[in-house]
Amino acid sequence: MIRVHYSMVVCVVPLVVITLLLSASNNPQPSQFQFPLNSMRFAGFTLRLPTQTRTYLRAGPLGLEGLGSVLMHFKQSIILSLALQSSLHLAFTDVRDHRYSPSSIFNFHAPANTNALDLIKACRIQDYITHDDRDTLTRGWCNGEGWAVERLERVRERMSDCTGILDLETGEDELVQDLNGCIISWVRSRLIPRLAFSPLPYSPFSPPFARPISVGVHIRWGDMAAPPGTPILTHNFYGSFNFPEITRVLADLRAYAGPTGIALTIAMEDTNRRVLALLNETEYTLLNSPHAKALDDLIALSQNDVLLLGESSFGSLVHLIAPRGLTLVKGDGRLGKFANTSGFGRHVVFMSNYTPADLKLLQVPVEH
Ligand SMILES: *[C@@H]1O[C@H](CO)[C@@H](O)[C@H](O)[C@H]1NC(C)=O
Ligand SMILES: *[C@@H]1O[C@H](CO)[C@@H](O)[C@H](O)[C@H]1NC(C)=O
Repeated sequence: MIRVHYSMVVCVVPLVVITLLLSASNNPQPSQFQFPLNSMRFAGFTLRLPTQTRTYLRAGPLGLEGLGSVLMHFKQSIILSLALQSSLHLAFTDVRDHRYSPSSIFNFHAPANTNALDLIKACRIQDYITHDDRDTLTRGWCNGEGWAVERLERVRERMSDCTGILDLETGEDELVQDLNGCIISWVRSRLIPRLAFSPLPYSPFSPPFARPISVGVHIRWGDMAAPPGTPILTHNFYGSFNFPEITRVLADLRAYAGPTGIALTIAMEDTNRRVLALLNETEYTLLNSPHAKALDDLIALSQNDVLLLGESSFGSLVHLIAPRGLTLVKGDGRLGKFANTSGFGRHVVFMSNYTPADLKLLQVPVEH
């Protein structure tokens, strides 16, 4: 039987783009950098499009969810802003009793030359693309379908006089779980600009290892806490691995790592130490920062060779900004959140077909 990994069958970023990315990262000009899509069926697509000089303001509300979930409510805006060669900014939204603002976090690293909205002739995207067309069009563009690329190109020409673009869509109307492969470059440029394109080129990470394999586990406990008395060892965690599964994979990883072992990081918002103790792990770094530092924990978790994540929105966001390595995902990828997301050299394996042999993927580059 041939087992095919999703990350191996998707066409993400072929060698030519990797080369372009490398030459681009040697000469960083973040404010002018344009991002590749997940599909390279864009013949002649250049990574350096004209400088983004106008702002694309997603003015409608995004909803009040956390950093990972809120992303599902403006992916179409990311895609449209890229297709229209403009720079997406999100109208300010404070969530969870003002503990942090996802929009400020995503806006922070926007190109400096687009930090103002010119209202002299600001146009509404809704006058060019109807609500009903929006989903099919952005989806088609992400998949490199000619009709969608051409249609958005025509919209861009018709909008060439617009000094700024307003997007009045609301978070309630827009909910896109998949299409993460299409926005991965944008997300990286906004959340980890200095590391955004760094995982290349590939150098093998093979035994005997010179350092411990770093392993990050996300336990989504805090906001879904089961009542006292819940049998944690059989509890089905929402959006993260169950405990027996974590134990099993950590044992596989230790066997694979050999003498250098693993360096474990556990991220658990609103940590419940009684629950955590049931994992029987004694040495680990715990990420449980106050909410104002949500981004720091997200980034710290992402920077691990191996990640154990659920198919939650937070989990997929962690993966999108991770370096080269291996992400193990609970379940079978049914929601599509991890589809086409190996463009920066990270393998994805779903636990529904995981075997310990999958850990060897750490030794090989992602095939495109
Ligand atoms: C993944 O990429 C393939 C090929 O480009 C495309 O057909 C598919 O729709 C994409 N899926 C998602 C969820 O992005
Ligand atoms: C932790 O150890 C206890 C006692 O040996 C065991 O019952 C429990 O299953 C272990 N936890 C996990 C997650 O395997």
